[in-house]
Order: sequence, then structure tokens, then C-alpha cells
Amino acid sequence: MEKLLVSGGSRLSGSVRISGSKNSSLPILAATLLSEEPCIIHNVPDLSDTNYMVQILITLGAEAEMENGTVKVQAREISSQAPYDLVRKMRASVCVLGPMLARKGEAFVSLPGGCVIGDRPIDLHLRGLEALGADVEVKGGDIRVSAPEGLKGAKINMRGQYGSTVLGTDNVMMAAVFAEGTTIIESAAAEPEVEDLATFLNALGARIEGAGTPKIVIHGVESLSGAEHAVIPDRIEAGTFMIAGIIAGDGVELENVRSDHLTSLIDSLRGSGHTVNLQDGGTINVSASTDPKANEVTTEPYPGFPTDMQAQMCALYTTTSGISVITETVFPNRFMHVPELKRMGANINLKDSMAVIRGVDQLSAAPVMASDLRASAALVLAALGADGTTEINRLYHIDRGYENIDQKLRSLGAELHRVNG
Ligand code: EPZ
Repeated sequence: MEKLLVSGGSRLSGSVRISGSKNSSLPILAATLLSEEPCIIHNVPDLSDTNYMVQILITLGAEAEMENGTVKVQAREISSQAPYDLVRKMRASVCVLGPMLARKGEAFVSLPGGCVIGDRPIDLHLRGLEALGADVEVKGGDIRVSAPEGLKGAKINMRGQYGSTVLGTDNVMMAAVFAEGTTIIESAAAEPEVEDLATFLNALGARIEGAGTPKIVIHGVESLSGAEHAVIPDRIEAGTFMIAGIIAGDGVELENVRSDHLTSLIDSLRGSGHTVNLQDGGTINVSASTDPKANEVTTEPYPGFPTDMQAQMCALYTTTSGISVITETVFPNRFMHVPELKRMGANINLKDSMAVIRGVDQLSAAPVMASDLRASAALVLAALGADGTTEINRLYHIDRGYENIDQKLRSLGAELHRVNG
């Protein structure tokens, strides 16, 4: 199993280009199932998750290939079955449910199950599809949704106990594109990735308004054509590299960034006194304050502070003098990175879904275990500033969501390399 050895102390400088968004690519690739015509998707990051989604499309009957960040897909005929061994490896594959139901009038998808960041229910997805007139049956770990008479537009509130649902909003929006009449989704997720999906669906010929706000309106159409689309930049990768530039940088520049997708993170970093300069053309420069201030952050659905940046912010606060507090409201148990950071000398107390972090001068290297995608990134960030060489195990987690992260960090001057062991 691969490990990453990261030697702390190198100073990072120079420029790195941010890849396309994983969390935009996955639902957009699923949406290609809605059309019989050819689709071309550009700026797709080369990750295990995106390659896996391409395999899912092929297994479902589409012709699909990915080369140099461009995916060409044509789903002339598709199956309505996405079996367990497909879905269990990647929760996000549940977003084939909506397009399959819309296209085939039925869909059999295995329940995705949970993961280390918490239970990953899909009750809100199913409630939305039922509101469109689908029959939903959950049996033996599988979901069967069917609408032999077609779907009918409805007014649906997608809010759950933890706020909006990103993939739930995506699934209902995709299911509604052929529904008779108009569908209104209230309490919709407003993430940029939902808006990017709607932009692609409208390019296919759908009629969707309001994506990127909590109220989305979908007017049903008869069919969709093909389309070409370029995926938005990955705001979480950008945020991760911004924090790398603050922990270990001497002036790091990021290219291909949508800073308007990162206002909450930028405000938090500036609140600690760090410098974040926004330049034209999607370039951001970051540099650390010489006297950073402790801060408080609460994760919320977009445009609030993103839960996908919570672990990385924890890593930054471990060596920010004073007492910082991070409260996680989206995935309350999303703290698998904390025990590993404590192995490196971090002073963190967890109470319910709140991490109280007392800054220490410097972390010290230790063998640590990656547990999920963003926790792995947090461990890399912590290792960049630690004393000694940190060994990060279970590297496959980070390869799910960061394209060439070690090459990109090395290009900035970091000392890290993979070993088998
Ligand atoms: C998306 O997951 C992202 N994944 C996640 O990023 C991200 O953390 C999450 O949104 C929140 O922003 C992709 O886009 C592929 P949710 P999703 O449905 O859509 C609860 C990463 O690191 N909920 O918005 O699955 C749920 O338990 C990944 O890139 C229900 O209760 O998340 C959670 O507490 C990790 N019932 C909250 O809502 C439902 O039916 C938000 O989940 C659905 C969700």
C-alpha cells in the first residue's frame, strides 16, 4: 500500500494551476445519461473518483472515454440497474439515480451506505423523487424507484436536519428535466457545483432557472440534445493549496481559481491576519501573517464555510497561537483527522461537534493514517510545517480527490515522495 513521506521545513513558492472540480464533474458525468446524443466534458480532473464514474457510465451501457481531462460520452442505450459493487465504492455514484429514472422510467440503485465522515442517508433524495410521482421501494440494501407513467412537476422542499443536500438537489433536478409541467425545489443546495450542473443541463436543452440559489425552477422538456461543457475550477483544491501557501509558503500563487466561490474561506484567513490577494484572470496570491490570530469557524451549506475545508483549517489552527474553535454542523462526526493531528503534537479537544484548538509552536513528524479525502489533505498540510518527515499511510484516500497533489506540491518546492510499503 502506498505511503507519502513529507519532509517539513521546505518553503513553498511559485505558481500552481488548480484542476477542474471533482464535485462538479461527478454529477455532470451522471447527467450525460439523460441524452442519447454525444457529450464532451472538459477540465475533468484525472482522479480515481472521476475515472470510476466513467466506468459506471460504461457499465450502464454508455460509450465513454477520458483523455487529457476531456470526457467524451454517448449514452445511446442505458440500463436501469446500478448494482451494489458499483455504488459501494463511491457514494457519489448515487447521482445516477435521477437521470436513470428520468430516462428509463425506473432505476435500481444500491443504497450507498455510510463512510468515515458519517452516515450518508439519501432519505431527502427519495422524498424528492416521490414528490415527482415516483414509487420508491427500499429492500435488501437496494433502492427501486419507478414512474411508468412518467414524472409530474411538483413543489418540493429539500431541507433536512443538517440543511440542504447537494447530491439530493442534483438528483431531483435531473429527474425533473423531463417531468410534465414545472418543478420548484425550495431549500435547494446553492453550491457552485449545483449551478455548474444546471448550466450543463441547460446546454443540453433543459429549462432550469435559479440554480445557485435556494430556489430552483425546472420546466419539463421532451428530450435533450448533446452539449460541450467545461467544468468549473475545484474550490476545495484551491482552498487546500491556499492553506499550504500559508503554512509553508513564501509567496504562493494559484491559477484558475474562482475566488467568488471561496469568499467564506478567504474571510476566515484574512480574519487571522493572513494576506489573500485576488488578481484578475482567476489568480490568487497568499502569504502568511507574521503574527496570525486565532479564529472561530462554523461549517455551513454554501455560501457558508465549507465542511470540505474543515479538516484543512484544523491543520492550520494547530500552529496558530491562541485558541481557535471549529464547529462542524454538516457532518458532525467529521473529525477523523483530529487523533492523527494529535499524534503530531497538536493540542485539540473535541466536544460534540466542536474542536477547540490551542496553537503550539510547531508540530512534530509521526506516522499517521489517512481516513478520508479531506482528512488526508489536512495531514499533508500539517506535515509541510512539521519538524521531521511525516509518513502518511492509506494514500488512496487523497488520490480520490486531488489530481497530482504530490507533483503540484513538489513544483512549489515541497519535499515529498511516495513509497510502497
Ligand atoms: C456533497 O456530498 C459532496 N460530495 C461532499 O464532498 C460534501 O461534503 C457535501 O456535499 C456537503 O457539502 C460531492 O459533491 C460528490 P449532502 P453529499 O447531501 O451531496 C445529510 C468531498 O470531500 N443528508 O449535501 O452526499 C447528510 O448526512 C465530499 O469532496 C440527509 O440527511 O452531501 C449531511 O449531514 C465529502 N439526507 C448533510 O445532509 C439526505 O438524503 C449534507 O449532505 C442527504 C443528505
